[in-house]
Amino acid sequence: MRHDSLTVIDNRTGMQYELPITDGTIAAPDLRQIKTSADDFGLMSYDPAFLNTASCRSRITFIDGDRGILRYRGYPIEQLAERRTFLEVAYLLLFGELPDTGQLAAWQQQVRLHTMVHENMKEFLEGFRYDAHPMGMFLSAIGALSTFYPDAKNIGDVESRHLQMLRLIGKVPTIAAWSYRHSQGLPYVQPNNDLEYVANFLRMMFKMAETKYEPHPALVRALDVLFILHADHEQNCSTSVMRAIGSSHADLYSAVAGAAAALYGPLHGGANEAVLVMLNTIGSVANVPAFIKDVKAGKGRLMGFGHRVYKSYDPRARILKEMADAVFDVQGRTPLIQIALELERIALQDEYFVTRKLYPNVDFYSGLIYQAMKFPVAMFPVLFAIPRTVGWLAQWEELLLDPEQKIARPRQVYIGEGEREVPLRPEALRSVARV
Ligand code: ACO
Repeated sequence: MRHDSLTVIDNRTGMQYELPITDGTIAAPDLRQIKTSADDFGLMSYDPAFLNTASCRSRITFIDGDRGILRYRGYPIEQLAERRTFLEVAYLLLFGELPDTGQLAAWQQQVRLHTMVHENMKEFLEGFRYDAHPMGMFLSAIGALSTFYPDAKNIGDVESRHLQMLRLIGKVPTIAAWSYRHSQGLPYVQPNNDLEYVANFLRMMFKMAETKYEPHPALVRALDVLFILHADHEQNCSTSVMRAIGSSHADLYSAVAGAAAALYGPLHGGANEAVLVMLNTIGSVANVPAFIKDVKAGKGRLMGFGHRVYKSYDPRARILKEMADAVFDVQGRTPLIQIALELERIALQDEYFVTRKLYPNVDFYSGLIYQAMKFPVAMFPVLFAIPRTVGWLAQWEELLLDPEQKIARPRQVYIGEGEREVPLRPEALRSVARV
């Protein structure tokens, strides 16, 4: 028997099968050699929501949920957040290495060249209702970019792919900010390429009538770190969507629009909003023990706690907790922060949360920081989508270059009706009777 294999014995037939184990996985197609009947297609694995199915080999992001580790291209997220900027991390995710000084200057310049959007985009955005949700506008506008750049269909051409990536990374902050401005009835602010990526975005968001808008450096840095922390998270829901759409060879604007739609869902991009709702409902520090008691009694969840993958402290939450102080020092503290700190203090010592390995996740603090920075709640998923665009693009490129990948097409276990005959309509029956 080979050591790097799994032996499967079919108790019905007595047949024995050797399934090779590679990189901690068996290949699901290897199961097909096991037949449940003579005309059977072959044994399948059943895995709703892909809880235990690896869909690709990836070199981009590593997560060890038990030990609270997150790395991009091998670099710990803590070091990247402390020592680098979002655009450097974007370069790392896309090209595999951190840029040197010359590469970074060229990269920043290339992205800067693509921050403007076609004037028709304004008319496109004007078509939305006055109170349209910015995330709905954002993902529609991203999809519409595919009509502005039909050359994006050349997905087999590496130069075209990279041009589209630059266009998209340059334009997402502009489209994001304009989606917000439309929902507020405010004029759109053109990008100012004297500013860096994040400062430029903040200016397009918040500039009013002042002659010179200068975002506070601490807020620029905080948002830059938030962007780094949200840039990629391996095969999550929206990234899986990006890969699934990309696998049909759709252009990247259409694929990113689909990924952004997945991110729109409250189970993915909306948990930080739920944290704010929860903190507002609790209302004061004095109510925290009663709230925890209710959670333990099964009357709701402690939002911002727990994670499907992290079974220890989410490393991104730890970074954000420190970052939050820098933002609150500039913007002031709201009562919600005291409630959040008290919740965390009690929950981290409580047997219910400790035994279930429930720790704060990235959403526990991100909503509080965004709120302190004056972002409306409706912008939270958009703020997630701007940096995650880079992760989606890195994963898309990896997919297209992976010779093992084909069009995504899961199988199913059919549990519906067997074959049955379509009854004739009653009128048809009557006319048959007349004949
Ligand atoms: N509050 C209270 N109890 C919880 C919580 C929570 N936030 N999360 C899990 N539990 C309990 C469950 O009730 C369950 O208890 P039981 O064993 O007594 O039945 C146990 O912990 C395991 O819970 P599961 O639902 O099986 O854990 P799962 O890994 O499926 O869920 C999830 C992960 C969805 C994130 C969950 O922890 C949750 O709902 N958290 C709150 C929402 C949230 O913060 N989501 C953001 C996630 S991060 C992100 O998406 C970027």
